[in-house]
Parts: sequence; C-alpha cells; structure tokens
Amino acid sequence: SVKGFIFDLDGVITDTAEYHFEAWQNLAKNYDITIDREFNEQLKGISRMDSLDRILNHGGRETDFTEAQKEEMASEKNGEYVKLIEKMTPEHILPGVLDFLNELKEHNYLLGLASASKNGPVILERLNLSGYFDTIVDPSLLAKGKPDPEIFLTAAHQLGVKPEECVGIEDASAGIEAINKAKMFSVGVGDKESMKEADYRLDSTEGLVLDVILNKVK
Ligand code: G6P
Ligand code: MG
Repeated sequence: SVKGFIFDLDGVITDTAEYHFEAWQNLAKNYDITIDREFNEQLKGISRMDSLDRILNHGGRETDFTEAQKEEMASEKNGEYVKLIEKMTPEHILPGVLDFLNELKEHNYLLGLASASKNGPVILERLNLSGYFDTIVDPSLLAKGKPDPEIFLTAAHQLGVKPEECVGIEDASAGIEAINKAKMFSVGVGDKESMKEADYRLDSTEGLVLDVILNKVK
C-alpha cells in the first residue's frame, strides 16, 4: 500500500518553472540564443549546469566558453532567479496543492521533496510549506540528475519506505522517467505529449485529489 508521496517542486507545487524559463531566456538572449517553450520542456527537472550546457548546445555555442565563464553565466541566471523568488508568498502555491497536502497529512502519509533545485528549501519557506515535508533531498549530494531515479530513491530511503510504496508527482518528462525507473507510481501534471510516460496524467494541479490518485494506483 502507499505510504509516501514524493513531490517535485518547480511546476508542481508552485509555478517557478516559469521563472526558470524567464531567467534562462534572458541569459540566452545575451549570447544571441533564442529558446522557446518547446525547447524549455527539455530543461525541466535538469540541473543548473546541465541546463546551461543544453542551451549553449541549442545555440551551437557549446565550445565557445571556458568552464569559468560558464560558472559565471550560471550564477548570473541564478541571480535573476533568486530575485524573482524573493517576491514569492503563499499565494504562489498552485491551485489545489495546499488542500492536497493537508489531505495527505490528515491521513498520515509521509511527504518528501525531490527537486533538483538548490533553491528548493528557500522556496518552501517562502510558501510556508516547509513544515509539511518529512524530508528534503539535497540535490548537491547526488551523483546523477533526473531522468536517473537516484533522487526519488534517496527520498524514499530518507522516508524509510520502499520505492514501491511511493507515489511520485512531476511536471517534467525527465522526472516521470526517474519516477518510473524508481518503480514508483508516477503522476504527471502537464500536456499529453510531455506526460506520455506517466502512469496517471493531470491537466493541472487542481486534479490532485487523494481518493482519485489512490484509485489509480490499485
Ligand atoms: C528544477 C527545475 C529546473 C532547474 C533545476 C535546478 O529541476 O525544474 O528548471 O534548472 O531545478 O534549479 P536551481 O534552482 O538549483 O538552479
Ligand atoms: Mg518540475
């Protein structure tokens, strides 16, 4: 039976996926690289440095910069992103998410956060949600990013439950792949194309309802 729910953050709990997109788009523009929403799907769930590599690759500029320059570019992007998240309040929690978290706590489920973002803990604080999570995986301690299952397996381990006893919730196709490889039940929030591998797909977070999900797991 299900004992734990493991959440992605950006694009699932709050709409920071939009802030990441905006900050990357502005950085890319400085180097004459254009990124659109379709390309952005590939950046969801991917670490800061890997995202930068994909963007440079997309613009055919992967060999134009030194490691030190790339570090500088990544920290410039993060600087803009951090400014955007400073303005966040609990009003930025996506629709249905708070009710769902309360429902999960009422029924004593264990909650974990499996976000690749180093800004995850700060965002949970801004949203007043830190108290809901029994564990947060520190992405800087992982060997591999999504779509590798490591982050979800680590979350289950930290919660003290088996992966098979967990439901994972994601908005990124790399995240769904990670959940599936971890042998958890995957819930995907997003369009049919990017969520095609999800065990259960929702158009929006408003569909996050405990009974409905538990019925699909069976
Ligand atoms: C999440 C987001 C990605 C982001 C990554 C790293 O996975 O979906 O878009 O690049 O976190 O975030 P960070 O805040 O550490 O740059
Ligand atoms: Mg996400």
